[in-house]
Amino acid sequence: MIFSGSSHPELARDIAKASRKKIGKLQIEVFPNGEIGVRILENVRGKDVFLVQSPARHPNRFLMELLIMVDAFHRSDVRSINVIMPYFPYARQDRKEEGQTAIAAKLVADLLGNAGITRLLTMDLHTEQIEGFFKIPVDHLRAQPLFAKALKKVKNAIVVAPDIGAIDRAKRFAEELNLDYGFVDKRRMSGSQVEAKALIGDVLGKNVILVDDIVSTGGTLKAAAKICKKEGAKHCIAVATHSLLEGRIEGIDQLIVTDTIPQKEAGVEIVATAALFAKSIEEI
Ligand code: R5P
Repeated sequence: MIFSGSSHPELARDIAKASRKKIGKLQIEVFPNGEIGVRILENVRGKDVFLVQSPARHPNRFLMELLIMVDAFHRSDVRSINVIMPYFPYARQDRKEEGQTAIAAKLVADLLGNAGITRLLTMDLHTEQIEGFFKIPVDHLRAQPLFAKALKKVKNAIVVAPDIGAIDRAKRFAEELNLDYGFVDKRRMSGSQVEAKALIGDVLGKNVILVDDIVSTGGTLKAAAKICKKEGAKHCIAVATHSLLEGRIEGIDQLIVTDTIPQKEAGVEIVATAALFAKSIEEI
């Protein structure tokens, strides 16, 4: 049975449709002080349930809602609780970059595990090691084949990682598309301020494909596009799995994202992920 949290009902609907299932009935109530109450309005005893929640915008609200959903299912004697969380919140806090800071991604993994989930399905985790934070199976899906299909017609191109952290992703992409790759040396001054210091790779006269996992403020892609165009790139196309941004990015001529986070912006190309999640549900 498939159930949806409140963060991304459209994606839950598409996954259910692709799985030829109906969304189960659930009552989610937010009390005046912000506390959340969940009641399952179906008989779920002995069932394998799939809960769809993407805590991207308002992550704290939707993460807590998901944990309460999991607790409600756990106490209703289901057989398994499979969480479909396309965007994993706090993934960028996956290690201690400096002393006296948290590893919030591990905390989220512990919260989900302790609440009683039996499997996680997610897409393009910020870093691979996050899978290791879980003791349960993690199905880590990739958006790359969806993007590769969308980019089939781009000629005379080079793949560029907009920062060092994206190099592996860019390399895999370049291999699939049979292209060269390069990277940008990015420095982050604050959550919203970045600067591109240098570019490695020959972009002169080429269509640059920038590959990233998350777009937040768009600063990383903007800085990468700026340095690529300064070095003679013709066009800058950006592909990013999870886009928190609502708006265009200066210097980016074409932006392609997935629907793991609700998207409203006209002019952004969106590739659908529901069929991939539906296939995983079937395989599980
Ligand atoms: C960072 O390591 C991520 O992969 C993204 O590059 C980053 O989160 C993008 O953030 P923004 O769009 O705010 O520059």
